[in-house]
Amino acid sequence: MVLHSSTRASVVLAILLCFCTVSLGAHGRSRSRLYIVYLGDVRHGHPDDVIASHHDLLAAVLGSKEDSLASMTHSYKHGFSGFAAMLTEDQAEQLAEFPEVISVKPSRTCTATTTRSWDFLGLNYQMPSELLRKSNQGEDIIIGVIDTGIWPESRSFSDEGYGPVPSRWKGKCEVGQGWNSSNCNRKIIGARFYSAGIDEGTLKAEYLSARDAHGHGTHTASTAAGSVVEGASFHGLAAGAARGGAPRARVAVYKSLWQGSGGSSATILAAIDDAIHDGVDVLSLSLGGLEDDSFGALHAVQKGITVVYAGGNSGPRPQTVENTAPWVITVAASKIDRSFPTVITLGNKKQIAGQSLYYQEKNSSSSTFRSLEFGDLCTADALNGTDLKGKIVLCFPSDPESSLPLVPEYAFQVALRNVRDAGASGLIFAQYTTDLLGATARCQGIACVRVDLDTGYQILRYIRDTSSAVAKIEPARTFTSKELLAPKVAAFSSRGPSIYYADVIKPDIAAPGASILAAVGDSYEPMSGTSMATPHVAGIIALLKALHPQWSPAALKSAIVTTASVTDEHGMPLLAEGLPRKVADPFDYGGGNINPNRAADPGLIFDIDPSDYKKFFGCAISRTSASCNETLVPGYHLNLPSISIPDLRSPITVSRTVTNVGEVDAVYHAAIQSPPGVWMDVEPSVLVFNSTNKVHTFQVKLSPMWKLQGDYTFGSLTWYKGEKSVRIPIAARMTLHDFYADVA
Ligand SMILES: *[C@@H]1O[C@H](CO)[C@@H](O)[C@H](O)[C@H]1NC(C)=O
Ligand SMILES: *[C@@H]1O[C@H](CO)[C@@H](O)[C@H](O)[C@H]1NC(C)=O
Ligand SMILES: *[C@@H]1O[C@H](CO)[C@@H](O)[C@H](O)[C@H]1NC(C)=O
Ligand SMILES: *[C@@H]1O[C@H](CO)[C@@H](O)[C@H](O)[C@H]1NC(C)=O
Ligand SMILES: *[C@@H]1O[C@H](CO)[C@@H](O)[C@H](O)[C@H]1NC(C)=O
Repeated sequence: MVLHSSTRASVVLAILLCFCTVSLGAHGRSRSRLYIVYLGDVRHGHPDDVIASHHDLLAAVLGSKEDSLASMTHSYKHGFSGFAAMLTEDQAEQLAEFPEVISVKPSRTCTATTTRSWDFLGLNYQMPSELLRKSNQGEDIIIGVIDTGIWPESRSFSDEGYGPVPSRWKGKCEVGQGWNSSNCNRKIIGARFYSAGIDEGTLKAEYLSARDAHGHGTHTASTAAGSVVEGASFHGLAAGAARGGAPRARVAVYKSLWQGSGGSSATILAAIDDAIHDGVDVLSLSLGGLEDDSFGALHAVQKGITVVYAGGNSGPRPQTVENTAPWVITVAASKIDRSFPTVITLGNKKQIAGQSLYYQEKNSSSSTFRSLEFGDLCTADALNGTDLKGKIVLCFPSDPESSLPLVPEYAFQVALRNVRDAGASGLIFAQYTTDLLGATARCQGIACVRVDLDTGYQILRYIRDTSSAVAKIEPARTFTSKELLAPKVAAFSSRGPSIYYADVIKPDIAAPGASILAAVGDSYEPMSGTSMATPHVAGIIALLKALHPQWSPAALKSAIVTTASVTDEHGMPLLAEGLPRKVADPFDYGGGNINPNRAADPGLIFDIDPSDYKKFFGCAISRTSASCNETLVPGYHLNLPSISIPDLRSPITVSRTVTNVGEVDAVYHAAIQSPPGVWMDVEPSVLVFNSTNKVHTFQVKLSPMWKLQGDYTFGSLTWYKGEKSVRIPIAARMTLHDFYADVA
């Protein structure tokens, strides 16, 4: 269990979503640290020539070839040109002066932040949907997974029945500790690892190979592309067939994160550079911290690779979404129609249910009644002096003075540690959300269960009304039902708007990410996080790519965004867990919850020429080069399947272009849902497609109704043709002044 805190004082979940931070602390101008030097497109032909040119450039600053060799940890030479090197601040500044250098930035350290979920999304393996069947389950598609490595012996990566490795594959199988050439097969077709620049202590305790010491990478890879494994479960919970979204897609493993200390921008960029060279179709990155080195993902997208990133686990606070570059898909996490009720029986015979993944060790005695004690906030202070040996402790970490309750996982870990140190046998943890069950699977001998505040209060009243309160906690059961309101955006899922790209709606899409069962080592374990939602999207993109090989990354993203669900099957609007729970909006889930079968046939797509990204967002790639143009056009004019206008003070007209990819002769009608406070008009409001007119441009005019320093409101624009609908989310904020805060 690792808890890392980032510069933004976020706390990482136990499920190891990666947060990247520039290491803090005193670093004088003379002290060296790792920098990323970015040089743009690869200009010289052969990779060896590119490396030589990097050393020439670095030697010009360091003085000698030997110093350059000693200082450089990575040379990026396939997908883009650049390198990572140990430099002092002075040396970094000198390098930045060279005309060919686009940017020099410190490398940031990155620590790494199923069964039912696929049926719930309508991709049932027993009754294969059109999409699964027509895409041949993604067999020709290669998914690159940049993570903590993989456990090749897992049944999820069996290559039984697979055809030969696609001939276009140019990757390799790097041998190393615990990894020989036979660990690659027709399923795991590539394996690389990036250890340069990682501290020796970390590497000593790890496999110096693509083998996964942690479990996170095996989990995400098997969620994206695991073969079908019948009868998987976690101690009987969440039982069913485990499989990836594209069960026959090929996996290329890039181990860039290391158990203990994680990785860095330098190792992740090295993986992206190689993945572009190797020929992956989709990249899945369940880690944080893209914003500074988003150029790597941009080069991948320019080469036709769809890049899918986790949006982060810092919800439900607003403005926490990460990895928000407009060219990637940023994923939020939702909960599915499955829960794990855990029955708590009180001494007065009353039974109430919490949620957990608590199971009983085979050799342990069955649940019995134990003394029940109120532990209050369950801080070390609060528990000091109370005898808790063998007891069940009720924790209410709702100290209004403390920000802890806002960070559910952290508060839970603190309570668990204190209660366990005191020798307790059980923990009932009361909080506004019961979303994060991952940690309850690893309570190390303690029966632990999460309850909401209302349930917690009922238990507290019982304790106060009774002289010797007792309770019994039974192991969790799995409950799946159409009667559960689902999906919902999970409380921990990071929320928009993006602080880096305010004129783009982020996240883009939500996918299942709560208590997802997938491979870890030789068995199966549930984990939660946007880390788990990300490979769901990567797997679906692989299926869509198999079906539509010519579609660009932007077209594939458009297909999933415009067909996403914003209501459940009863027509109820999807909710977002949080403080308070509310109807979900685009800053919770972008277009909505992913709907793969509809995405297979989206009708219309919003496509983007990759060279447009620099036109609109050049300054995000580099502030110093020619690509940063002060007259850059606002990002909301980019042809994205969404519109976000953060400063609406007078009427603004944006245009969008759609391409018909459905029936050739088609007539679409616009349906407008204006954001409250905004007039919205679409021109033309009817689009007629035929064999000569496959592409149409339309204008959306948004006008503020009042002069108001306002806040974001949300609407949508939907193009209808019979049952088919193509919907884009719209966000607008009315403003009067340049400052946004609603203070005078
Ligand atoms: C690879 O390792 C496995 C066991 O780890 C062994 O059975 C196999 O013979 C090895 N293959 C090669 C080619 O060394
Ligand atoms: C049950 O067995 C496991 C290992 O097999 C051991 O770690 C654990 O302490 C045992 N628990 C009890 C209650 O004996
Ligand atoms: C518990 O309280 C006692 C008395 O106030 C104090 O001496 C002791 O250090 C405390 N222990 C912990 C673990 O805080
Ligand atoms: C900057 O943007 C303006 C307007 O879009 C364009 O005319 C000009 O060529 C751009 N300059 C550069 C250096 O890209
Ligand atoms: C397609 O529609 C346009 C505009 O209505 C029309 O001018 C054109 O002739 C049509 N093409 C065909 C092949 O029907």
